[in-house]
Amino acid sequence: MSLRPVRIYGDPVLRDRAVEVPGVDDTLRQLIADLRESMKAYGGVGLAANQVGVAQRVLVVDVPLEEGERAVHALINPVVKRRVGTISGEEGCLSLPGIWEDVTRSERVVVEALDEEGRKLVLDAEGYLARAIQHEMDHLDGVLFVDRLSPLKRQFLRRSLDELARGELPEDYHPPTDRGGHGGSF
Ligand code: NI
Repeated sequence: MSLRPVRIYGDPVLRDRAVEVPGVDDTLRQLIADLRESMKAYGGVGLAANQVGVAQRVLVVDVPLEEGERAVHALINPVVKRRVGTISGEEGCLSLPGIWEDVTRSERVVVEALDEEGRKLVLDAEGYLARAIQHEMDHLDGVLFVDRLSPLKRQFLRRSLDELARGELPEDYHPPTDRGGHGGSF
């Protein structure tokens, strides 16, 4: 396993539409292992392959549930089959350090994907897990959570975004151990 640096806003790979993975092999399993290690090192609860510079439709999540349990999944070629309700909640992104905003998402999603063994997986997710999966699936389409904010909100963030794009990171950003004082970002 190796830790891969997380790409920051302004890196063009974050705007790529990731391609479908043709099949599950050892190279892909290595990528998944690296995604997990990087997610953990950066204190994230989700990570998409674009965020480490690989434009393939692969994401990992490791989301705390109730009573100390965690939802740990690798999703390959994920597709949303069903959406229920909408809900707003705070998000941060490992590729957008220092930015936290409320984003409206589907409250519950049913997602089909392959798991790391190449088996079909159907995941019925709600709450924080549903939010994490939708955030990561956006990454696979080159979409960032700030794209989902109102024009006014984006206007407020313009300067911070421009700074990130110029490679000026927040002063308190010390990867890979930065947690930004929040519970975890995606
Ligand atoms: Ni993100």
